[in-house]
Amino acid sequence: MSFDDKVVIVTGAAQSIGKAAAVEFAKQGAVVYCLDLQSSVSETANLITAEGGRAEFQRLDVTDQAGWYDLLERVRSERSKLDILVNCAGFVQKGSIEDTSYEEFQRSFDVNVGGVFKSMRAAVPLMRVRSKEQGLATIINLSSMAAFNGMPMYSAYGASKAAVWSLTRTAALEFARLKYPVRVNAIHPATIDTEMTRAVMRMSIQSGEDEETIVQQMIAQHPSGRLGSVEDVVFAIMYLADERSSFTTGFSLTVAGGRGAGEW
Ligand SMILES: NC(=O)c1ccc[n+]([C@@H]2O[C@H](COP(=O)([O-])OP(=O)(O)OC[C@H]3O[C@@H](n4cnc5c(N)ncnc54)[C@H](O)[C@@H]3O)[C@@H](O)[C@H]2O)c1
Repeated sequence: MSFDDKVVIVTGAAQSIGKAAAVEFAKQGAVVYCLDLQSSVSETANLITAEGGRAEFQRLDVTDQAGWYDLLERVRSERSKLDILVNCAGFVQKGSIEDTSYEEFQRSFDVNVGGVFKSMRAAVPLMRVRSKEQGLATIINLSSMAAFNGMPMYSAYGASKAAVWSLTRTAALEFARLKYPVRVNAIHPATIDTEMTRAVMRMSIQSGEDEETIVQQMIAQHPSGRLGSVEDVVFAIMYLADERSSFTTGFSLTVAGGRGAGEW
């Protein structure tokens, strides 16, 4: 795959899936704007430039609409276009419905779906201004298998990811109806071996569960017999970003080792 001279924004780029996606886009020739709440996002950009790639970084809370507009103004003045937006930033909250405050519930929505909404509001005005030769711009939103099924103890996370799924399909149809050259797709990973999953494991260990048992239980949920890797998800992102998938919009791509395919 080649993303030569494509301009890409990746949120959640300080670690795990977002970081690996940013590095891969840069390897394939793109200019990557790496965004994250954490200041360590600079390390992702430094890693890319040390390997001869092109990257910029900015600390941005994806819930900050004014910050998004400022960033898009920067991209417009530096690159005059935006080809690919990947919304990886996400936040997981564990707790029963009784123990989760409404403020905590709301925070998951603010970050996981509000961040996606605000990114699109800011990015689409630039993404839709492009010549025929430039092909379609593309937005990829990280939802989750949690969007499709109940997830006990993770009500806020599951509901927010279901909202990302819905928002993705609406955006795809709306932009098509408006004749915008922008497609929008979602990726639904099952359990991927990342910092987020390790944080979830730590929460379970704190509530008295044994680490080995947790890992085995997680693996057992996946017919493929393993957890997903960051590379599994990055390849799905690359597929949806590639112009050769230009007939794909409003689609939900599961990266789930067979999870959700049926009775298991
Ligand atoms: N890891 C999994 O098993 C899994 C499964 C399904 C879906 N996902 C989704 O994939 C995406 C990436 O997951 P991951 O495992 O790489 O997560 P991660 O927690 O390892 O990384 C997420 C990144 O998002 C950043 N972030 C969080 N809140 C932010 C905010 N308000 N503004 C800007 N940045 C913010 C974090 O600082 C972090 O760098 C997330 O949306 C997640 O919900 C992950």
